[in-house]
Amino acid sequence: MGLFPPQASTTAWHVDALYVYLVVISAVMTLLIFVVIGIFAFKYRRRSPDDPMPKPIHGSVPLELTWSVIPFLFMLVMFAWGTKLYFENYTPPRDALDVYVVGKQWMWKVQYPGGQREIDELHVPTGRPIKLTLASEDVIHSFYIPAFRLKHDVVPGSYQTYWFEATEPGRYHLFCAEYCGTNHSRMIGWVTVMDPVSYQNWLASGASNASMSDLGAKLFEKYGCITCHVTNHTGPPLNNVFNHPVQLTDGRTALADEAFLRQAILNPNSRVVRGYQPNVMPVYQGQIDEESLLQLVVYIKSLAQSPMNSQANPQ
Ligand code: CUA
Repeated sequence: MGLFPPQASTTAWHVDALYVYLVVISAVMTLLIFVVIGIFAFKYRRRSPDDPMPKPIHGSVPLELTWSVIPFLFMLVMFAWGTKLYFENYTPPRDALDVYVVGKQWMWKVQYPGGQREIDELHVPTGRPIKLTLASEDVIHSFYIPAFRLKHDVVPGSYQTYWFEATEPGRYHLFCAEYCGTNHSRMIGWVTVMDPVSYQNWLASGASNASMSDLGAKLFEKYGCITCHVTNHTGPPLNNVFNHPVQLTDGRTALADEAFLRQAILNPNSRVVRGYQPNVMPVYQGQIDEESLLQLVVYIKSLAQSPMNSQANPQ
C-alpha cells in the first residue's frame, strides 16, 4: 500500500509533482514561521523582572521586501503550474476517442459511439486520449478516478468535458465524489484499461446493431426534428453545424459545440439562429432524458462529416 494510488494516466505524475510541490512549500513555510517564532521567543525572552524594555525598531525595507518577494515567487509558481495543468486537462487532443457518461442517482451510465453501453464500468485502451462528455440526469455528481488523478463535477443542465490517456492496463476504482443522496457511497464502479488489441475485441464483443448516431437519427424522427430541419426548412439545416460558428438573431456568434446543441434542443428560444423565427421549435426541456439527448447530439455531430442526404434517411 503506497501513499498514493497508482499512476495510470499520462497526467498522473504531473498532478502528483504539483501536489508534492504544494506540500513541500507549505511545510517549509510553516516550519520556517514556527521555528523562527520559537527561536526569537526564547532568545529575546525577559530574563528577570528588572530587564529593561528593549527599544522598538521600525522595520527594514530590504528585509520586508525579501520575505515578501521570495514567497510570492514560490506561490506564483503554484499558480502558473496549476494553470498549465488545468488548460492541458481541459483541452482534449483532436484524435481523442469519445465516451459519454451520464450520472444518475446512483449509477454511472456509460455510452460509446459504437452503441456499447455499460453501468458503473468504463473500458478504455492504453495509449489513446479519451474525451469524456459528462452529464447529469438529476443532481450534482463528481466523476472521480484516483488512479488517473481525474475528478470532475457533473452538473445537471450542462455538459462537462475532460480528457485523459491511460497508460497502464489494469482495473481501477471509479467513484462519485460529491454527496448526491442516500446511496452516494454506493455510486462506485470500475475502469478497465486494456491494451489496444484487447480493447478492439472488447468493443466488437459488445457491439450492438445501432451506434449512438443511429439511435440519435431515430430520435431525430421520433421527436419530429426532421420535419423542420430537413423537410420544410422552417428550422436551420443541421449538416456542417457542429463545431462551426453560428450567427444568432441578437447579433452574437456562438460556437455550435455539444453544449450549444444541448441548449438549442432543450430551450431553443434562448438563442435563435439568424434568419429563423423564435417560438417555432417546441421546448424539449423535461421531454427527453440525458442519454437520449447525447445520442441526438452525436447524430448532429455526425452530420458535420456526412453528406446532406443522410439527414433525410436515418437508418
Ligand atoms: Cu453521485 Cu455521489
